[in-house]
Amino acid sequence: MSVALNAKTFLAAMFVFALVALFSSADVQLLNGQQGYTPDQPMAYSHRLHAGELGIDCLYCHYGARTSRHAGVPPAELCMNCHGSVTAGMDASALEKAAAEEEGREARQITSPELTKLYASLGRGPDGQLDESIEPKPLEWVRVHNLPDFVYFNHSVHVTRGVACESCHGPVSSMDKVRQEGSMTMGWCIDCHRSQGVTKAIKMETRDDAERKDMHVSTDCAACHY
Ligand code: HEC
Ligand code: HEC
Ligand code: HEC
Ligand code: HEC
Ligand code: HEC
Repeated sequence: MSVALNAKTFLAAMFVFALVALFSSADVQLLNGQQGYTPDQPMAYSHRLHAGELGIDCLYCHYGARTSRHAGVPPAELCMNCHGSVTAGMDASALEKAAAEEEGREARQITSPELTKLYASLGRGPDGQLDESIEPKPLEWVRVHNLPDFVYFNHSVHVTRGVACESCHGPVSSMDKVRQEGSMTMGWCIDCHRSQGVTKAIKMETRDDAERKDMHVSTDCAACHY
């Protein structure tokens, strides 16, 4: 009897051990397309600063999300709408201004090392001006989300129906570095599709019930697989 119990305890312990090993190895090897994936980017662009503190609308940069399949990542030219004049963070600029005042001189233009990378990608020098000796080379942002090719996903069908970015991507405006928040597995897609019409889990306050009944939220295989 006690031998049988010990064997059982041993097996249970082995099972727990195997599970722990499985999860901890999954933890250190996050890959593109996995929940929690937070790759380093070529430049320290922060959503917390831009979308959070500065309050820039998601669609100002990811304008594709409203009209097309892909949300897209904005070209560096779009950043220049502001960074043509903003060449450094507010704090650094304020410090330089104070120092200049104290020393009785003109404030120098300063450029943050991160924005220098933005300018270089556009063939511009640290002052933000075009410089022929610098060859333009687009920033190579690392993809965070990546569904397999056999899945059809479309941003505009969701975004134009009022599904908030945050319901799939989480609190991006508080992230310095974007991470994949949802699991983005088939079950994750289908759970939300099934729940439509019975829960208010996503932002749909603006719709009335009649409109909601007409909604076409599919769980047919062909909606997501060619
Ligand atoms: C000022 C422009 C700008 C704004 C505003 C902005 N983003 Fe981004 N977004 C970027 C850039 C640049 C990248 C690529 C670099 C990175 O991943 O951080 C990006 C990447 C992303 C990604 C990861 C894409 C991938 O590779 O899978 C998501 C998701 C995202 N943004 C969502 C949002 C959401 C949601 C908002 C609003 C809360 C928002 N963004 C606001 C510029 C912007
Ligand atoms: C609507 C205006 C606006 C747009 C568009 C914008 N930024 Fe900014 N960005 C700012 C402002 C303002 C600051 C300084 C904020 C502060 O220091 O409080 C800033 C700061 C930064 C910084 C930090 C600078 C430092 O070292 O302190 C980086 C990096 C940056 N932006 C990159 C980008 C990139 C890349 C894009 C395009 C995808 C972009 N920004 C688009 C307004 C903008
Ligand atoms: C219903 C869920 C859902 C909503 C809502 C959603 N996304 Fe996505 N997003 C995804 C998925 C899934 C991917 C990965 C797509 C792929 O790999 O083909 C993705 C990818 C992205 C990317 C990477 C580039 C691209 O186009 O594939 C960006 C940027 C992005 N989303 C931004 C946004 C923004 C901004 C909003 C709101 C305007 C938004 N998303 C709304 C699910 C969503
Ligand atoms: C947060 C909720 C939510 C998540 C998560 C979600 N969807 Fe949807 N999806 C919707 C809603 C709402 C609609 C209905 C749009 C409409 O009314 O036509 C929709 C519609 C669609 C459609 C258009 C076909 C149809 O049913 O009318 C496709 C394709 C689709 N989703 C694919 C996906 C895929 C693939 C994923 C996962 C990667 C996903 N969705 C995740 C809410 C979601
Ligand atoms: C709302 C979107 C959606 C619907 C509906 C859907 N799928 Fe999927 N499916 C996905 C996504 C996203 C993936 C990839 C992520 C994953 O592997 O979980 C996937 C993956 C798969 C895979 C590969 C599984 C694997 O482990 O790699 C198969 C097979 C599959 N789906 C079959 C089906 C069948 C059969 C149906 C109909 C009963 C169906 N799907 C309906 C979104 C959907």
